[in-house]
Amino acid sequence: NIIYNYFLFLGDLMKHLISIRDIGKDEILNILNESEKMENLLKSKKPINILEGKILATLFYEPSTRTRLSFETAMKRLGGNVIGFTDIKNTSVAKGESLMDTIRVISGYTDIIVIRHPSEGASRLASEYSDVPVINAGDGSNQHPTQTLLDLYTIKREIGKIDGIKIAFIGDLKYGRTVHSLCYALSLFDDVEIVFISPEELKIPKEIIEDLKKKGNVKFSEKCHIDLTDVDVAYMTRIQKERFPDLNEYQKVKGIYKLTKEHICDKNLIVMHPLPRVDEVDSNVDELPQAKYFEQSFYGVPVRMAILKMLLENE
Ligand code: CP
Repeated sequence: NIIYNYFLFLGDLMKHLISIRDIGKDEILNILNESEKMENLLKSKKPINILEGKILATLFYEPSTRTRLSFETAMKRLGGNVIGFTDIKNTSVAKGESLMDTIRVISGYTDIIVIRHPSEGASRLASEYSDVPVINAGDGSNQHPTQTLLDLYTIKREIGKIDGIKIAFIGDLKYGRTVHSLCYALSLFDDVEIVFISPEELKIPKEIIEDLKKKGNVKFSEKCHIDLTDVDVAYMTRIQKERFPDLNEYQKVKGIYKLTKEHICDKNLIVMHPLPRVDEVDSNVDELPQAKYFEQSFYGVPVRMAILKMLLENE
């Protein structure tokens, strides 16, 4: 079982979802196809009971609105049940219980675990101590693979393709795990061009640039001002105050970018944002047809339904 758990994929058998880098283009396309079926099922309003009797644990060591509630909605829409916590102060973590022990215990209670944790690598560690599938819902500044899958679904759904797109990532590219995960996923597609737009202090990590260079099939450039020339997707991000070791550094870059109607009203592009937003997208953008961030957050439900179904049907 240890060997089985250690290898995340055995042929087509997906055990855990920890990093987007663990899965290939075919698995991604399978998940996107399954998500489309789930969206159609949701629209049909028919009861779906394929996960009846199954229990999902949502373990949130960090705040969340969309990820936790869309996972819980997804599980309930599929006929399953949910347990979990949103505040470690009310759990035995506050008494000093280790992540490994918490996971050993909860994997005995449930069929699948979703975990968000402030430490990079925490979800991977959890998967090594769990007898049931573990899904990474964000580990520090590292990865957020289910966000990536719903981002890809949004691009495919709203633009009609992923190959050949030009995407601008704007804002906090240093700490933004959604950006990191999505860059790796896009590098699996053909002829993608990425423009990284950030202040010097929040540049995309060098190791991601190096990995993209090694891959060789993604064209990219770095800028410090918003430039949306020929861009298909403007992907805005929040400057993540909570990740700055020194708040004085945050004050220097706070509010540096604000996307307004004027940036996009004459452009053929979509605006995405993983949300929550603070002040980086003006509310006057919301009324434009290019604004797709609320659709994007809705797509979290069918995409997470697909992921839960696919992981649990292997059990
Ligand atoms: N996009 C995202 O992860 O949102 P939450 O932090 O609200 O889950």
